[in-house]
Amino acid sequence: MSRPIILGIVGDSAAGKTTLTKGIAQVLGPENVTVICTDDYHKYDRKQRAEIGITALHPDCNHLDIMQQHLSQLRIGQPILKPVYSHKTGTFEPPVYIKPSKFVIVEGLLGYSTRGACESYDVKVYLAPPESVRAQWKVKRDTQKRGYTEEQVLEELRKREPDSEQFIRPQRQWSDIVVSFYPPSDDLEQTNGHLNVRLVLRPTIPHPDFLQIINYGDGSFESAIRLGLDRDMSKPVDVLEVDGHATLEQVNKLEHILCADMPYLKNICDREGNPELGKVAGTTGETIQSYPLALTQLLITYHMLKATQIYQ
Ligand code: G6P
Repeated sequence: MSRPIILGIVGDSAAGKTTLTKGIAQVLGPENVTVICTDDYHKYDRKQRAEIGITALHPDCNHLDIMQQHLSQLRIGQPILKPVYSHKTGTFEPPVYIKPSKFVIVEGLLGYSTRGACESYDVKVYLAPPESVRAQWKVKRDTQKRGYTEEQVLEELRKREPDSEQFIRPQRQWSDIVVSFYPPSDDLEQTNGHLNVRLVLRPTIPHPDFLQIINYGDGSFESAIRLGLDRDMSKPVDVLEVDGHATLEQVNKLEHILCADMPYLKNICDREGNPELGKVAGTTGETIQSYPLALTQLLITYHMLKATQIYQ
C-alpha cells in the first residue's frame, strides 16, 4: 500500500527553509506536495511569548506532542486538523483540514527535536548557512515581510542565541543531509546571488554514486565541484561542494549522475532551459537562480523519489 513520502527541512530562523521547500515542491509538481510549517504548532501567540519571556525556539513554546502525532498520521496517509499561526498578526487563526498528497514537506525550527518526530521522516535535511549570512537574510526578510526594524531583528537574534545553541543546532546530528549555502566572499551584496553550497552527506540514506565525479579527471570540473571525506559532529561523512561559478557543462555531469535511474528527474533536466531548477522566489520576493541551489533541489528530490521506489 502506498503512503506519503515525508521530507523534513529543519534549521534556525531565516536559514532558507521556505525557499528550499518552494524549490523542491516546484520540481516535484506543487499538486503532488503538501507543505507543513511547524511554526503552526507554537503554543503561545506573539504577545504571550513576550509576556512570559520565552522564544519561539524553545521546545516548551511549541506543541511538539501534537506535531509528532500529526506527523505519524500523515505518514500513514491520514488527514490532520492543523493549527495555523499567522506571521502577519502574530496570532492564531482557525485550524485547517489537511489531506497529505504523495509527498509531504515539513519545514520548521524543531522538527527533529523528539525521537518520535525523527522517525516519521523518510529524508531529513538540516539547513546550516554561516551565522553571518543567516543574520543578513533574517534582517532582510523580517524588515521587508514581517514589519520589524533592523535593530529589532538584531536584538531578537541576540536574545534567541542561547535557545539556538541549546535546541536548534543540535538537531543537525539527526539529519541525512546538511545543506550550507555560503557566499564565496564575505560581502553578500557583491556575490550577486551566486552562493556556493556545501552538502554533508551522511551514510544514513543511500546517496547517488558521486565517486564518478573524481573519475572525470577534468581539472576545471573538479575545482568547481568537489567530493571529499570529512567529519561532521565527529562522525565520518562525504562532502559534496558546488561553487556558484560552476559551468553548465560541469553541472550537467552531476545532473547525469542524479538522473541515471530516475526517468522523472531526467525529464525535468532535459526540458529546455530547466525552468524549474534553481529558480525560486525567495521569501523577500527576489528570484534566486543558481546551479548550487538547482543541484541541491535535485539531490533532495532524488532521495524522495528513491524513497517512493523503496516504500511505495
Ligand atoms: C522566527 C521563526 C518563525 C517563528 C517566529 C515567531 O522568526 O523564523 O518561523 O514563527 O520566530 O516569532 P514572531 O516574529 O512571529 O513573533
